[in-house]
Amino acid sequence: MKTRITELFGIEHPIVQGGMHFVGLAEMAAAVSNAGGLGIITGLTQRTPDDLAKEIRRCREMTDKPFGVNLTFLPSINPPDYPGYIRAIIDNGVKIVETAGNNPQKYMADLKAAGVKVIHKCTSVRHSLKAEAVGCDAISVDGFECGGHPGEDDVPNFILLPRAAEELKIPFVASGGVANGKQLAAALALGAEGINMGTRFIATKEAPVHDNVKQAIVDASELDTRLVMRPLRNTERVLNNAAVQRLLEKEKALGPNLKFEDIIHEVGGVYPRIMQDGEMDAGAWSCGMVVGLIHDVPTCKELIEGIVAEAEEIIRGRLARFA
Ligand SMILES: Cc1cc2nc3c(=O)[nH]c(=O)nc-3n(C[C@H](O)[C@H](O)[C@H](O)COP(=O)(O)O)c2cc1C
Repeated sequence: MKTRITELFGIEHPIVQGGMHFVGLAEMAAAVSNAGGLGIITGLTQRTPDDLAKEIRRCREMTDKPFGVNLTFLPSINPPDYPGYIRAIIDNGVKIVETAGNNPQKYMADLKAAGVKVIHKCTSVRHSLKAEAVGCDAISVDGFECGGHPGEDDVPNFILLPRAAEELKIPFVASGGVANGKQLAAALALGAEGINMGTRFIATKEAPVHDNVKQAIVDASELDTRLVMRPLRNTERVLNNAAVQRLLEKEKALGPNLKFEDIIHEVGGVYPRIMQDGEMDAGAWSCGMVVGLIHDVPTCKELIEGIVAEAEEIIRGRLARFA
């Protein structure tokens, strides 16, 4: 399947693995890239730019295919060393960066000078247009159903993707809520040139997370996610658990007076305990509504090839019959 996205990134299948905190390690990115998709290392999971440089080198030992690095620009009092992370990416020869949070305008000149392609992930048409204007090469259009941060506009992909198609000149992938070939075919029909998946990739054999996390995803239904931190305008879609229930009770009790410090136990530094130690109630962790469509733990190759085969079969078979 050739699209503007496979051409842009030099990959076989139009399937991207979005950056995921404490999931997007070298093992994850290499497995996706080796399967013909675009694997992405999550930059900020590495504590320092030096650690990121090591992770990039480790990934390169596991694959000779293209892979990228995610850089998430978070609102923060003590921001991470972003210029250092950008240096680590450029100096170690990575040619694809997925940015998220704020647009990457500040770093575009350096990234472009180094021949790096930038795919920016955002949840609205206006942010997509801004990213296009500052020189991004592609957009990951992230609908309201996505795991992680859906923004505050709450526009689901059935509307957001065709709206993006109306406005954007650069190619975009459909992100959020995608797990199978029916949805790849639908995404292409709506104007996207491929898909970006987060939650689905966690439930794969190669994902470097505790089996409890994979099992929790297989067990959950589409009704099991919750939105947290809305009062802080930092909305996150997470899998429901005891910590999330506690967090939501605090949000209800404190209303507009809620501060980040009030919920620090439920959201601060919980990822290693969940992803590595499998303590499933340790805190709130990002997860999409797409859990309802995830029933198995395949290899990345089985998953990606299965999705593409299903999409091709739908396009040639079911859809062709309607035309
Ligand atoms: C556990 C988890 C952690 C994530 N961490 C990040 C992150 O650090 N940076 C980022 O840009 N997106 C992050 N995301 C969002 C994904 O890259 C992707 O956009 C999203 O999962 C797509 O929605 P889906 O889960 O429905 O496929 C995370 C998602 C999950 C499920």
